[in-house]
Amino acid sequence: MIDADGFSYRDGMLHCGTISLTEIAARVGTPTYVYNLDSVVQRYREHVTAFEGLRHHACFAVKANSSLPLLQMLARHGAGFDVNSRGELHRVLRAGADPARMTMTGVGKSHADITDGLDAGVALFNAESASECRLISDIAAEKQMTADVLLRLNPDVGTDTHPHISTGESSHKFGMTAGDIRSLAAQSAWLPGVRIRGLSFHLGSQIFSPEPYREALLLLITTLDDICGTLDIPDPVIDIGGGFGVAYNDEEQTLDLGLIAESIRSLLGSRAANFTILTEPGRSLVANAGVLVTAVEHEKPARDRIFLILDAGMNDLLRPALYAAQHDIVPLREPEGGQTTVFYDVVGPVCESADTFARRYPLPQLRRGDLVALLSAGAYGTSMSSTYNSRPLAAEVLVHGNAWMIGRERQQMEDLFRGEHLLTEPEAPRD
Ligand code: LLP
Repeated sequence: MIDADGFSYRDGMLHCGTISLTEIAARVGTPTYVYNLDSVVQRYREHVTAFEGLRHHACFAVKANSSLPLLQMLARHGAGFDVNSRGELHRVLRAGADPARMTMTGVGKSHADITDGLDAGVALFNAESASECRLISDIAAEKQMTADVLLRLNPDVGTDTHPHISTGESSHKFGMTAGDIRSLAAQSAWLPGVRIRGLSFHLGSQIFSPEPYREALLLLITTLDDICGTLDIPDPVIDIGGGFGVAYNDEEQTLDLGLIAESIRSLLGSRAANFTILTEPGRSLVANAGVLVTAVEHEKPARDRIFLILDAGMNDLLRPALYAAQHDIVPLREPEGGQTTVFYDVVGPVCESADTFARRYPLPQLRRGDLVALLSAGAYGTSMSSTYNSRPLAAEVLVHGNAWMIGRERQQMEDLFRGEHLLTEPEAPRD
């Protein structure tokens, strides 16, 4: 996965474009996430190009990577955003994004989420239940506003992704059945604060086949045609979510978005021009644009294996522990021919055996202080990180052209206790 998104060895050291990752580590410390903004922009452009000919807008799924300068860069290139909470909304607003190009999704939107979304002028709410539609309507009506809403369809379509990140089956909490959508549309006169603008779905993440999209689209279009019988929807919107599979290693093959665009064209036929198509790509724009630079703390031989203990742990990059995800690992110093290969169990310092990045992973012999990069860490890396074991959040660096900047400072010790209180009553006397 090196090369494709701007990471490559130059003069024997791993670089992001022209910037040495070793130099970044020397200045900022480790663990540090490094994102290549040029690659993010390129992926965004490719995404938009794949849907050319359709009236299409891409709304980047902020949950995949919520680094402010990265969001800013996407906004500057015309991207819209899909926000899943008021926190994500305020982040993208801070990054200068246009609310008129935003969708707000989420299966449990709170009163505060909806209120902030309406106040900011978010273009569309993806509503996931009748209860939520009522809440949106009530809040909007009270403000004498009308909220534009897409109803999220649960198409009961399976995908062959990890069960934790599959979302389009009837056993999942997301969306509504076609039947529920039809009855909700029929009763929408009781929702004075809501204007139904179309339908949406999101099938899951890391999907490599266009087939589930086609199947879900078929049901979405039929359902939309049904509700158009009862409602007047002059400029209908179809939102197909995200989930577009990304290759994390040389065996996987990135999903061809052209095939999905083709399904949309063929299923809508001559009516295609009447529809606005939204996509919510997350991972596909950022996964391979980011790496996590980390240092070796210890090399620890055990009975039947050798552990390589890094200074990054599952709190920094949760995906291997949560989804058994595999991220390639490369040393920052390019391996020389003839060096012996050691098969390491690569682990973090957190007190859990799940804190394991790879088992029996071939690397050159490494020592304390040597640097390695965990690749394809740009999606759901920092955005899912935590301070578990009271470990400060990692720093984030962004590379753009021949320059780099710190997007987020490493957390300091005092940041870990901010907002916490100690006991205030005097210590009780001990007997
Ligand atoms: N739209 C909605 C409504 C979503 O729930 C998601 C992701 C996306 C768009 C973007 O999906 P993407 O294009 O990134 O696949 N933490 C997991 C992935 C969880 C995805 C949650 N929803 C991981 O690290 O693999």
